[in-house]
Amino acid sequence: MSESAVTWIKLDRSAGDLEGQISRAIRERILEGRLPPGQRLPSTRALATALSVARSTAVQAYDHLRDEGFLDTTPGAPTRVALIRPGPFPSGPAPVALLAPPPFITQPTGLFRPGVPDLSSFPVAIWARCLGARARGLRIHDLGYTEPAGLAELRHAIIDHVSVSRGVVAQADQVLVLPSTAIAIEFLSRLMAPADRPLTAWVENPGYRVAWSLFRAVGAEVVPVPVDADGIDVARAQGPAPDLIYVSPSHQYPSGATMSLPRRLAVLDAARQTGALVLEDDYDSEFLYDDRPLACLQGIDRNERVAYLGTFSKVLAPGLRVAYAIIPRWLIGRAIAALQDTAGLVPVHVQAALADFIREGHLRAHIRRMRPLYAARMAATADAMEAICGTELIVGQRAVGLQLAVWFRDASVDDVAIVRELAERRISGRALSALYLTHPRPGLLLGISTATQADAASLARLILQLLYEQRATAANRPSENRH
Ligand SMILES: Cc1ncc(COP(=O)(O)O)c(C=O)c1O
Repeated sequence: MSESAVTWIKLDRSAGDLEGQISRAIRERILEGRLPPGQRLPSTRALATALSVARSTAVQAYDHLRDEGFLDTTPGAPTRVALIRPGPFPSGPAPVALLAPPPFITQPTGLFRPGVPDLSSFPVAIWARCLGARARGLRIHDLGYTEPAGLAELRHAIIDHVSVSRGVVAQADQVLVLPSTAIAIEFLSRLMAPADRPLTAWVENPGYRVAWSLFRAVGAEVVPVPVDADGIDVARAQGPAPDLIYVSPSHQYPSGATMSLPRRLAVLDAARQTGALVLEDDYDSEFLYDDRPLACLQGIDRNERVAYLGTFSKVLAPGLRVAYAIIPRWLIGRAIAALQDTAGLVPVHVQAALADFIREGHLRAHIRRMRPLYAARMAATADAMEAICGTELIVGQRAVGLQLAVWFRDASVDDVAIVRELAERRISGRALSALYLTHPRPGLLLGISTATQADAASLARLILQLLYEQRATAANRPSENRH
């Protein structure tokens, strides 16, 4: 690519975020195959001169694309397009034997509860001001049956937010405002259910049990697909072709893995080949501690196969009950028709207040304020687990989100019993073995949102103690199995 060739990067200076515009243009070009693997890119200095931007802007754009896996940059060597290839996609159905999922333990609210943000940091005064202003100033037309897909102001505010923060490429008419991700999953699975046979849903194993239950509630066959440190591996899927593929690429639930770029492309390729809709659950991607977020699947999809699911449950508070689905254009008509009967599911003043909250910059400010706090709490929890229980536990990825997975090295540990013991002390970890459809591995899922260093160290010591007690009890058991 010569310098003059970068004329295809068209910058809109009035729109701001020049770095984002440059990285999007290059990413687009790579995904279209017009910048092949190995292709040399101009130096950051040459790119900056050609586009009349600061050198640092060009450097940041390249760094961002490198972090996403699109570029190879080695100091002293030219920057090149990385070799990225989706993995092979299996053809033909193969039967799978599913184990019955173990019973799920309902947790009391307590310390280390996964999935709940630090509610004491919720910006109560600002939220109350937004809500009060909108409750007092409701316009007459807002008081009737509102738009079934949600208030236009909120849908625009959501698009503005996720297009900048997550690289979503969509317009406001693709947004459905719904009370929760769970309702979005249920709604979209009903919408995608074939008339003449049960729906097939590919899900991550381990994964989000709530999604499995919702799929089963519409009669779906749920097919577990293995997850490793790079996220879901669709090349290893065994089962009928999917109608839905449920994934959590930014922060895999519960393992914490961030899906690598080749795996992202493999998921999109599987969806393109089978006509499946990918449900991309981006539930706590706002809290990324190490780096810039990877662009979401929705933003790199070229075949309209992704529904992006976002929620305010983690970034603000689950009690608000506001989430959203950003759906492909071809699904809008069916979705609106199906929502017509419910005439909107989130109260209008809450939607209007949230639109103001986002547009006035309070959401961005809240994320900026919480990110370093959560980063410190994640580090405190992971460090304590490693330092105190490292010989017994493998600590999962700690780069994103509000929860940390830890696995017991000893596969015979009864994690459900340990969780029960923890619950008696008002500690609300979750047993990882209960989050597998097949091949369960024992471990704990720990919420980090309110963890202090002292809490984390006490928890780590308690886990060790419970583990030793469990071993001692097993060793002292009558010897009927030991002949
Ligand atoms: C994987 C995953 N997705 C989404 C959510 C958010 O769900 P909702 O919007 O239904 O509160 C959670 C909450 O725990 C979750 O764990």
